[in-house]
Amino acid sequence: MKKDWEKGIAKILISEDQIKKRVKELGEQITREYKSRNEELVVICLLKGSILFMSDLIREIKIPLVIDFMGTSSYGNEFQAITEVKITKELDEQISGKDVLIVEDIIDTGRTLTKIKEILSTREPKSIKICSLLDKPSRREVKMKGDYIGFEIEDVFVLGYGLDFKQEYRNIPYVAVMGKDF
Ligand code: IMP
Ligand code: MG
Repeated sequence: MKKDWEKGIAKILISEDQIKKRVKELGEQITREYKSRNEELVVICLLKGSILFMSDLIREIKIPLVIDFMGTSSYGNEFQAITEVKITKELDEQISGKDVLIVEDIIDTGRTLTKIKEILSTREPKSIKICSLLDKPSRREVKMKGDYIGFEIEDVFVLGYGLDFKQEYRNIPYVAVMGKDF
């Protein structure tokens, strides 16, 4: 029997165990690839969708790092093409000369990350890479490739583990496909 707060869910797509295992693998890969660099890594959490993923991921990265947060809003809605991306929360730290890892919940059309990468590149970081929990390559409208991807998924609307529908369902600990009953 579904709990009240699970009413919008059609089925579990990625379980808590699968997420945990994959996040550990990503953390190990990132650790290996950044280990030999001298500077600390700046991990940027894109609000709000990636807070759960980012907080689990950084515990699996075993090198010195700092975290920062950036907020964006996209015009359009969950089902509609994004036309513009605006910054609603700026970073607190400077990123000039630093290795930057952007952590995102999902790459869909690719427009959000393209815009963010463009904005952050003008600040002349040493490097910028992207780590996204999910990737929906079939939905891409602009060329965008993540450097570290948790799971590639089909074109379905998903919820949970940070991802929302109208700001709800972020607290569901697994990734689910949205049903009609919400
Ligand atoms: P993009 O700019 O189209 O790549 O959009 C990425 C953003 O769209 C993500 O950060 C999410 O906020 C939102 N998004 C895209 N697909 C989904 C989904 O299936 N569930 C929840 N949010 C989604
Ligand atoms: Mg988002």
